[in-house]
Amino acid sequence: MKILVAFLGLVALAVATPTVSPSKVVCYYDSKSYVREFEGCIYPAQARMLPLDLDPALSFCTHLVYGYAGIQPDTYKMVSLNENLDIDRNHANYRTLTNFKTKYPGLKVLLSVGGDADTEEEQKYNLLLESPTARTAFVNSGVLLAEQHGFDGIDLAWQFARIKPKKIRSTWGSIWHGIKKTFGTTLVDEKEAEHREGFTALVREMKAALNLKPNMQLSVTVLPNVNASIYYDVPAIINLVDIVNLNAFDYYTPSRNPKEADYTAPIYKPQNRNELLNVDSAVSYWLTSGAPSNKIVIGVATYGRTWKMDGDSEISGVPPIHVDGPGEAGPYTKTEGLLSYPEICAKLINPNHQKGMRPHLRKVTDPSKRFGTYGFRLPDDNSEGGLWVSYEDPDTAGQKATYAKSKNLGGVSIVDLSMDDFRGLCSGDKYPILRAAKYRL
Ligand SMILES: *[C@@H]1O[C@H](CO)[C@@H](O)[C@H](O)[C@H]1NC(C)=O
Repeated sequence: MKILVAFLGLVALAVATPTVSPSKVVCYYDSKSYVREFEGCIYPAQARMLPLDLDPALSFCTHLVYGYAGIQPDTYKMVSLNENLDIDRNHANYRTLTNFKTKYPGLKVLLSVGGDADTEEEQKYNLLLESPTARTAFVNSGVLLAEQHGFDGIDLAWQFARIKPKKIRSTWGSIWHGIKKTFGTTLVDEKEAEHREGFTALVREMKAALNLKPNMQLSVTVLPNVNASIYYDVPAIINLVDIVNLNAFDYYTPSRNPKEADYTAPIYKPQNRNELLNVDSAVSYWLTSGAPSNKIVIGVATYGRTWKMDGDSEISGVPPIHVDGPGEAGPYTKTEGLLSYPEICAKLINPNHQKGMRPHLRKVTDPSKRFGTYGFRLPDDNSEGGLWVSYEDPDTAGQKATYAKSKNLGGVSIVDLSMDDFRGLCSGDKYPILRAAKYRL
């Protein structure tokens, strides 16, 4: 009896103990998905994602991040990159998204700037950081833009210079070295220190301006292959931001690494790889610099990166593997080297073994739960049709959420909703990647 009472007491205690602040699920919405082209599709409507399609996702999201606003090169003002879509009366997607707060009152909707969507005169991201007047113009216009459309804050997805792609083994060394150079799009930043200081100042100024408004949040998104240790002065900015989104993926991409494919977003370092190019290493930088773990959110990509396997690719499919440039564009996303999760999942099955269709992709899971899933299809006798894909699926998304939980992190972000299976074509469930991540937090 005593034992029973003690047991019931414990249960009561467990129930009464308030849970630590609930985990964040930060959902990115790429506004470009709205205008995704759909020629050639049998079901045109499947390509385009309407804001209404977001509804089934939003009960799982704590934050919705609208991607992306940009910077006007001459004035340094923060502006919509597509006013017709974002603001004008016909679509007014800014307002449509912030209006979701009526139905989901806990939801915070942030307006993100940058995110690699702002490609005109990219040098402006550096120049702005060098000029106090430019920063002021940016901050004032940004806060106004967010406030006018009912956003709960701003996310800075700053377009800093990228880490140069590195060789990860020497076999193909000398040949590929020459080729890589011609693909190199990375600018070397000769004013790193100045840009680090400028960004700290920008965060401080943005926070001060947002503080004048009620309940406005500030977050930062560290874009893939930005070296955070160069640009993010953690002790100086961490108390000013509510969330740090680490887009710890795209460590290998067909445009950066056209001749060699590898896991795009491993949680831990696979053997013989650069020790900095994985989720755990990205997280450690922030934690060891003193960031409270609950501000850190790790990004889960809802797409895969694809490369062409050719006659020289190792037939085992095991990465790192020799490949020959980006894989073919998908029917919906229409971008070489990129497939959304539903596009990949369609390739994993070919139920009718239809004539003329390529054989399905062989999926290789990772029992260690450390590196991720990949799929591949060997080229045919004419060296055609080979494909190698590194991607996130509901299982690996769940593993990332489990990792976040084990480290007491703030949660996960889903980048982005339009490339998750928002129609439920794979398994019947809408947003399977988002759901899997949410359930493991
Ligand atoms: C990032 O910068 C630090 C400090 O300059 C450097 O030690 C590190 O190697 C860089 N990381 C990568 C992945 O290049």
